[in-house]
Amino acid sequence: MSSEKPIVLVTGGAGYIGSHAVLALQNAGYEVVVFDNLVYGHRDIVENVLKVELIEGDTNDRELLDRVFAARPFSAVMHFAAYAYVGESVAYPDKYYRNNVIGTLTLLEAMVAAGIKSFVFSSTCATYGVPKIVPIPEDHPQDPINPYGATKLMVERILADFDQAYDFKSVAFRYFNAAGADPQGRLGEDHQPETHLIPLVLMAALGKRDAISILGTDYPTPDGTCIRDYIHVSDLADAHVLGLNYLLQGGNSQRFNLGNGNGFSVREVIEMARKVTGRSINAIECDRRPGDPPALVGSAEKARSLLGWNPQYADLEQILSHAWQWHQKRHA
Ligand SMILES: NC(=O)c1ccc[n+]([C@@H]2O[C@H](COP(=O)([O-])OP(=O)(O)OC[C@H]3O[C@@H](n4cnc5c(N)ncnc54)[C@H](O)[C@@H]3O)[C@@H](O)[C@H]2O)c1
Repeated sequence: MSSEKPIVLVTGGAGYIGSHAVLALQNAGYEVVVFDNLVYGHRDIVENVLKVELIEGDTNDRELLDRVFAARPFSAVMHFAAYAYVGESVAYPDKYYRNNVIGTLTLLEAMVAAGIKSFVFSSTCATYGVPKIVPIPEDHPQDPINPYGATKLMVERILADFDQAYDFKSVAFRYFNAAGADPQGRLGEDHQPETHLIPLVLMAALGKRDAISILGTDYPTPDGTCIRDYIHVSDLADAHVLGLNYLLQGGNSQRFNLGNGNGFSVREVIEMARKVTGRSINAIECDRRPGDPPALVGSAEKARSLLGWNPQYADLEQILSHAWQWHQKRHA
């Protein structure tokens, strides 16, 4: 009976990672309601692919949140809604603090008022700043170097204080680079504007961009380009279900890295994209961009041992193949 399924509110469920989490929650037997202001999300994905209720609203709208929480007995909230453009956060920090911190605080206050005390939060490896150790463990110092990372760290601190004060339990996942697409081709990455390497490379393969820029070729890495940890979005989605199950079974608040533990350089990604797509991809070597650490790779041992998380798609070729399948369908 669908009315007996636990109900989860997924903020940002019309976006890239949130939509994949909705699919994983449905597969795991949860009922899902998506809450998204559609600033970056896609209505067509929620209505035609996910086929769940969409509440078009903003996390800063306390009155609406109160009505939403009064209408149904939600068991938990999974919170993906945020702005996530690092460069924009440097140019307009007010926009980021208002949306990512104040918006989240408003959501948390509404949850506490409604007696909902289980929360899964999208944090980021950007909370660590420039790593002192790689692979980065969860107890690495957090010292973000841009307002975006700072907003996520502030929310992590608010969550710790809410736990202390209100017995509010949360799992915060610090993702490395989300990549790939639903293996069945139903969902994928469609940010407007796009800043992530893999979709940009695939747009170049599709002829929608002239070339891909390599931002820095003199880093202290084997081929001189930056190394990042790409984690398949469906593996991220599975981790969210495990984190939610853990909380609903009475687990304590936790922070987890979600990454592959394996880094790939910009050149390796472009080379693999040439292989997977069979297309020529023009790459242009440019200067470094300020604030890019040479290597960002995470240790996800804690998520494996405590949640039993077992990523299925650690292979870069698979990640790119799934992303390519989606990009051809969405952008052809
Ligand atoms: N993509 C990555 O590699 C990555 C890495 C680390 C962390 N994250 C975090 O994961 C989350 C999801 O990222 P994504 O790549 O899916 O982004 P996305 O932009 O595709 O999804 C975010 C969604 O939230 C919605 N939204 C934003 N502000 C809102 C608000 N105030 N009220 C209601 N809806 C709002 C947007 O319309 C969008 O649908 C974000 O919190 C991001 O910071 C992403």
